[in-house]
Amino acid sequence: MRTNKILILFAHPLYEKSHAHKALIKHMPKTENIKFHDLYELYPEFNINIKYEQELLQEYDIIIWQHPMYWYSCPPILKQWIDMVLEYNWAYGSKGDALRNKLIFQVITTGGKKENYNATGTDRYTIQDLLQPFNQTAQVCKMIYLPPYVVHGTHLMQEKDYQTSGKDYGIFLSELLNMEVPINQILKYDYLNDWCQNELKTYGN
Ligand SMILES: Cc1cc2nc3c(=O)[nH]c(=O)nc-3n(C[C@H](O)[C@H](O)[C@H](O)COP(=O)(O)O)c2cc1C
Repeated sequence: MRTNKILILFAHPLYEKSHAHKALIKHMPKTENIKFHDLYELYPEFNINIKYEQELLQEYDIIIWQHPMYWYSCPPILKQWIDMVLEYNWAYGSKGDALRNKLIFQVITTGGKKENYNATGTDRYTIQDLLQPFNQTAQVCKMIYLPPYVVHGTHLMQEKDYQTSGKDYGIFLSELLNMEVPINQILKYDYLNDWCQNELKTYGN
């Protein structure tokens, strides 16, 4: 069985106040095949080491952008990372093939509830609509963009709910490490969580 190498690019400007991501991170499997890469910790002045980030990306098969939803987008350091690291003729352009066929997806927490993220809800757009710029960025970089893994409704969660969502995420990552990722099957879902629920026996128990 193959082992995937997973790079988690984490962006949370208020981590000291976090509940949701703290629980997600606590339950990440501890293995050399998952690298947790905290962008705010590494680059408090936003001075991103482009060469280092590019070298790192090349070592991994699956890239995760993990962040809270901030004003319907990502926190600013992740945008800075995208702007600086995904260079012309490296990530995109006629000679830019460095990321071709790598898998990428987002792991997002939202204060808003899932049912609010649609045309008639208070958030007015689906998560998939709001993430189109990330999807298209990945597309231009010849990567395979998978649906997001989302923890919705964090404003209403209690500590036990954070821990349950963390545990589920840990199970998902453990499974992801050791599988031939069924891309076409996953692409039929809006949420990676739903794919996990339907297709992973160990998930959600
Ligand atoms: C500046 C800011 C902007 C936010 N924007 C949104 C938003 O657009 N949509 C939403 O559902 N929640 C929004 N939230 C709520 C956060 O997404 C939520 O608190 C976070 O995901 C919880 O994760 P944590 O406990 O790890 O901080 C926002 C929070 C802050 C501080």
